[in-house]
Amino acid sequence: MSERFVDLAVENGIAVVTINRPKSLNALSVEVLEQLGQVIKDIEKDDKVRAVIITGSGSKAFVAGADIAAMVNMTAKEARDYSIFAHKVFESIEQLPKPVIAAVNGYALGGGNELAMACDIRVASSTANFGQPEITLGIIPGFGGTQRLSRLVGKGKAMELILTGKMIDAKTAESIGLVNVVVPPEKLMETAKEIAQKIINFSPLAISFAKEAVNRGIEMTLEQGCKYEIELWTDCFTTEDQDIGMTAFLNKQKPTFKGA
Ligand code: HXC
Repeated sequence: MSERFVDLAVENGIAVVTINRPKSLNALSVEVLEQLGQVIKDIEKDDKVRAVIITGSGSKAFVAGADIAAMVNMTAKEARDYSIFAHKVFESIEQLPKPVIAAVNGYALGGGNELAMACDIRVASSTANFGQPEITLGIIPGFGGTQRLSRLVGKGKAMELILTGKMIDAKTAESIGLVNVVVPPEKLMETAKEIAQKIINFSPLAISFAKEAVNRGIEMTLEQGCKYEIELWTDCFTTEDQDIGMTAFLNKQKPTFKGA
């Protein structure tokens, strides 16, 4: 049996996915990406899973990047295939109709920062560091970094990080909008689970529509995005959960959403 580099544990509707390759600071080899992609597919099909947390094993690294040892001798064709495959896996995270939270426990560099950015929300340990150091290796980000970073933090900051390859600490990452919240290391998983729990109390259909509206809309003009929003907003009114939520409010009760 091949070695496991991605662990999955499901508890109370929350799947915790752990990148577990500590000897290489959880670097994303093809095997790791394949296993991560398969775990995301399994999660998509599993109705018991309502939210996902992605983290790294150990206290040092979330993911220290793509696997430099595996890339050093790649041909251009192999490098292209590697990038295409990672993009597919990250897209499957971004497009998963369930919320995904990155619990960034340490270094999130290169492909690691790119993985965190494919998630919906980033919670960081105060000991985490972020960066796109590819330029120091004679390459550029290839798992979506040039695109997702500028969308998240704006072109100027993205250019600064990508062109200088410098690392920033968690507080700085929070100040530029790369990270949602910074917590002490011992509170990292607890905070990520609290956020996941808060979200899964809501209608899973509304959550998936909201995620789709934001993710698809950001690729459109404002006018197209607003039209797209109207369609998804309208879809909410075909669900029982819309009735459940609004009726509960008017009756001063707490709604119990059905996901229907
Ligand atoms: C392979 C890695 C690795 C990586 C660390 N290791 N990062 N192996 N790929 N990305 C390995 C080291 O070689 C070392 O192995 C072990 O993990 C521990 O790392 P050290 O460097 O000894 O630790 P430390 O001195 O504490 O430094 C931590 C670090 C540093 C600052 C995170 O490891 C580092 O700079 N790593 C590379 C970060 C990086 O450049 N990432 C971007 C990769 S390119 P041994 O066997 O010596 O113990 C990328 C492109 C994506 O992500 C797009 C591709 C298409």
